[in-house]
Amino acid sequence: MSSQANHKLCMVPGPVEFHEDVLSSMSTLATSHVSASFIPIFGEAIELLRKVFCTERAQPFVVSGSGTLGWDMVASNLIEPGEDVLVLNTGYFGDSFTVCLGTYDAKVTQVKADIGDRPSIEEIHQALTQKKFKAITITHVDTSTGVLSDVKAIAELVKRVSPETLVIVDGVCSVGSEEIRMDEWNIDVVLTASQKALGVPPGLCILVASERAMNVFHNRKTRINSYYASWSNWLPIMNAYESRKAMYFATPPVQLIMALHTSLKQITSRPLEQRFQQHREVSNRIKDSLEKLGLKFVPKNRELSANGMTAVYYPEGVKATDLIPKVAAHGVVIAGGLHKVIGPKYFRIGHMGISVTEPEREHIDKTIESISVNLKELGLKGDN
Ligand SMILES: Cc1ncc(COP(=O)(O)O)c(C=O)c1O
Repeated sequence: MSSQANHKLCMVPGPVEFHEDVLSSMSTLATSHVSASFIPIFGEAIELLRKVFCTERAQPFVVSGSGTLGWDMVASNLIEPGEDVLVLNTGYFGDSFTVCLGTYDAKVTQVKADIGDRPSIEEIHQALTQKKFKAITITHVDTSTGVLSDVKAIAELVKRVSPETLVIVDGVCSVGSEEIRMDEWNIDVVLTASQKALGVPPGLCILVASERAMNVFHNRKTRINSYYASWSNWLPIMNAYESRKAMYFATPPVQLIMALHTSLKQITSRPLEQRFQQHREVSNRIKDSLEKLGLKFVPKNRELSANGMTAVYYPEGVKATDLIPKVAAHGVVIAGGLHKVIGPKYFRIGHMGISVTEPEREHIDKTIESISVNLKELGLKGDN
């Protein structure tokens, strides 16, 4: 069914496999960023983002960069030097968000979970009552561990015990694969990138800020310590394109935004709940198959496991250098470990976007087959 050239399936936790229509949007002929053909595409992409993030009035920002730029945007626009931020840390990306916040002189307190676990609601409650935090950050899925945070429960807790604290979600590895409802769950910022479950090549930072977050930004007292990340520059651009006018700050990546528009049209053409359910089902299928082979996961249990990726320990006697190249030679690319402490001991599989929502492509079957065949060749016993 696919018109794409034969290639190794990219089953890492981002970038993911891209739809043909998304790829052909990327090969549009040269188009001015202020042309009449591009303006409504950018404008509609901004509107469609609200649907995907389940918000009526929050402010989307679409900026060339990657997910990392979203951290800089939060740190530079919402946090003033010396303000306290509580970081819930479930792996590598919590460490890096902490470093980024520190770069802008935020005072960071971390609640750090053991590897494969997440901070309990009691621990978070205790931290929140120790001092007033300007913001709390949650990595929805830490891509280094595959641990899923319970954003809804944490946001409820924050609303109850520290209602002025802004709830910031790093959704780089969750938007489009995990349920996330900005308005209903009272979330102030969700940041993400194009290359994961949104199914667009890398290069876009996408951030959506609640009306409350925008008020905090407008009322800040100190100067913004960044030029490129400053919402003072980006807000007029977003407003202009949404009202179908062009305005220049820094040249937008025209073809990437066209690709984003195509993907968002596809995503919003079906109920989001169906999409989340498909991700849950595929995730369980992959995890069940690996469990049958006797493998163990990095997350401590299913409840705290992501639905768009799986982090799995190698069985006894198998190393990254054994499995990953063999699986690649079989036509499927998976990723090695990323966590600083356990990196060489585990591997990661991405299962997001069209690989999940279009089962006729058979990406998931090929991935499971190629991992289990190769593990068996490496001597693993199991009934799969
Ligand atoms: C959870 C999480 N946050 C942030 C990032 C950084 O995003 P990027 O690599 O697009 O800069 C990543 C990257 O994989 C991620 O997985």
